[in-house]
Amino acid sequence: MSPLSITRTLPPDATAAALRADVAEGLSRTPKQLPPKWFYDARGSELFDEITTLPEYYPTRAEREILRATADRIAATGARTLIELGSGSSDKTRHLLRALTGLHSYLPVDVSESALRAAGEALLAEHPGLTVHALVADFQRGLTLPKTPGPRLLAFLGGTIGNLLPQERAAFLDSVHELLDPGDALLLGTDLVKDEATLVAAYDDARGVTAAFNKNVLEVINRELGGDFDPADFEHVARWNAEREWIEMRLRARDDLTVKIPGVDLAVPFAAGEELRTEVSAKFREDGVRSELAAAGLKLTEWWTDSAGRYALSLALRI
Ligand code: SAH
Ligand code: AVI
Repeated sequence: MSPLSITRTLPPDATAAALRADVAEGLSRTPKQLPPKWFYDARGSELFDEITTLPEYYPTRAEREILRATADRIAATGARTLIELGSGSSDKTRHLLRALTGLHSYLPVDVSESALRAAGEALLAEHPGLTVHALVADFQRGLTLPKTPGPRLLAFLGGTIGNLLPQERAAFLDSVHELLDPGDALLLGTDLVKDEATLVAAYDDARGVTAAFNKNVLEVINRELGGDFDPADFEHVARWNAEREWIEMRLRARDDLTVKIPGVDLAVPFAAGEELRTEVSAKFREDGVRSELAAAGLKLTEWWTDSAGRYALSLALRI
């Protein structure tokens, strides 16, 4: 067997059916909303990688700083299998792979097959002895993992947990508890609550890369469901919701318009100024992370932040 295997855990028509269901439901309700996982076709994954290099988007740099400083302590978990959910380019994972000297298998999981393939090939070139078993899967839909040696470390980096709504987060953490055995560990990246100007700038950059990423979901609907969205009809909006402590990305219709989406048999009216919410990105505090983990049977054992205190990496034990 090649050291890189890519397994689709869902048949392609299941992904198409899930997109149809999310678009039909999300664009028929008031206010309109879509789940953020549909940003990530090949173009969306590239745009996200570009976002991570922007001066305004600090989370990736902050997380890398923490990983560099703590990789050896994370390696003390003795993990033989590293599972990574929403692994994308696996770029920061390199720090872990270098430190985890006893590692047998790396299992990246993502909805983006193009990102998994590129990342798997690049990592194997650097770690020829490693087994990379990539899974094209939705980590919110009953993930099952191949049998690999323990102890296992499950990494969920980048602050992607913040893209789940509170109820989804609780269900997700319960599923992480189910996936792990006692003594396995979770490594969780969370962006932290901070001043509004820093947060809004990170989601509304001067070059407009985040705006293009946001509008990419319209291109996905056009391609997959025959929609006739004109992305130019929508304005990118990033807003801090101080009560919920999350950033909301929205697309605001510039005028009254109707979009046809034959794949779901819909004509969707937008009033001028109406907004479609495409993402929330929750920001966290230590106490909140500790109690959400505890509620799922995961005990926080380490809390590390970057030197500027913008971002945190937690290590938790499955009990
Ligand atoms: N972990 C990387 C990438 C973060 S971007 C980093 O820290 O830079 C978020 C990643 O999660 C994308 O690659 C996206 O394709 C993936 N993703 C989003 N929702 C997902 C879901 N429901 N199931 C699996 N992967 C998902
Ligand atoms: C992947 N996720 C953690 C990013 C975030 O910051 O919420 C996605 C993103 N959205 C806009 N910019 C980046």
